[in-house]
Amino acid sequence: MKKETSIDWGNLGFGYIKADYNFISYYKDGKWDDGNLREDDKVTISQGSTCLHYGQQCFEGLKAFKHKDGSVGLFRPFENAKRMNNSAKRIMMPEISEDFFVEACKKVVKANGRFVPPYGSGATLYLRPYIIGIGDNIGVSPAKEYIFGIFVMPVGPYFKGGMSPVNFITSDYDRAAPNGTGSVKVGGNYAGSLLPHHEAVEKGYADCIYLDPLTHTKIEEVGAANFFGITKDNKFVTPKSNSILPSITRKSLLYISKEYLGMEVIEREVYIDKLSEFIEAGACGTAAVISPIGAIMHKNNKHVFYSETKVGEVTMKLYNTFIGIQTGDLKAPDGWIVKI
Ligand code: PLP
Ligand code: COI
Repeated sequence: MKKETSIDWGNLGFGYIKADYNFISYYKDGKWDDGNLREDDKVTISQGSTCLHYGQQCFEGLKAFKHKDGSVGLFRPFENAKRMNNSAKRIMMPEISEDFFVEACKKVVKANGRFVPPYGSGATLYLRPYIIGIGDNIGVSPAKEYIFGIFVMPVGPYFKGGMSPVNFITSDYDRAAPNGTGSVKVGGNYAGSLLPHHEAVEKGYADCIYLDPLTHTKIEEVGAANFFGITKDNKFVTPKSNSILPSITRKSLLYISKEYLGMEVIEREVYIDKLSEFIEAGACGTAAVISPIGAIMHKNNKHVFYSETKVGEVTMKLYNTFIGIQTGDLKAPDGWIVKI
């Protein structure tokens, strides 16, 4: 039995921490093996692996929460399993059964119990599942062998300050092509985002906002998170596009806005020159949770939403309800919480 950790839960950022165990499964001769937990956090692969050259890899991100009664729950892991399979299909990798995915998540969380942050600490356990193409290859074609892995680490806020407003700037770069891979979680999308992110941070912003690749007139993504806005008449609006990642957080907020807060919800185009229709705005994602957007800078015009320092009322309500559900304080819709 390993000792308690000496982690300062209240001061965690979003960074790599080696936990005790990770899970790994190999795909060979047309099938996945049962996988196993191991302590080594290194992966040894052939230099001919397709993940190294042709970006044949995808990943996921989900969280486990300690509840008040001491139990631990995963938040909507079957949604991540489904999305991972969509990503895998798009780049010709073998799918994984949803049950196998969720069981593997449970195993790795259970094995790393001492890394699950305490209830009320504000920190959570982040799980990073991935699939990579491996083996001795050189031609541009799908690998014959794969690794499915999951590692975990306790995390704090993704954007500095967590639930305090941050500012963003639109990017001239595109994150995805109109019929490209924007709607799946493949590494190439993120390699292409490194420079735009860096340039935005250099200019003093938390991250960049990607506009639609075809017309550059509509909001697509807020860095590695989806966008939402609250209209003056209390509607929850979020972009509709086939080149954004279908965020599980956003899907949950659409449900919460409607069913818990009685708001009207709309998925539609969000024009960058019509931001004044929103009184509040935010970024949402597993890592980002809900990050209030203070202001967006676009072509030297700064648009302030609610405030650059204070969180809007609706955003706060959404956050409290979302976190309440995740931590078990509020009743979750059926199937949202999977206990370890
Ligand atoms: N958009 C992008 C590009 C992301 O990387 C993520 C993170 O997963 C999201 C949106 C948010 O998705 P989710 O809420 O499922 O984490
Ligand atoms: C997530 O929110 O899980 C993400 O994958 C975003 C980022 C850390 C890549």
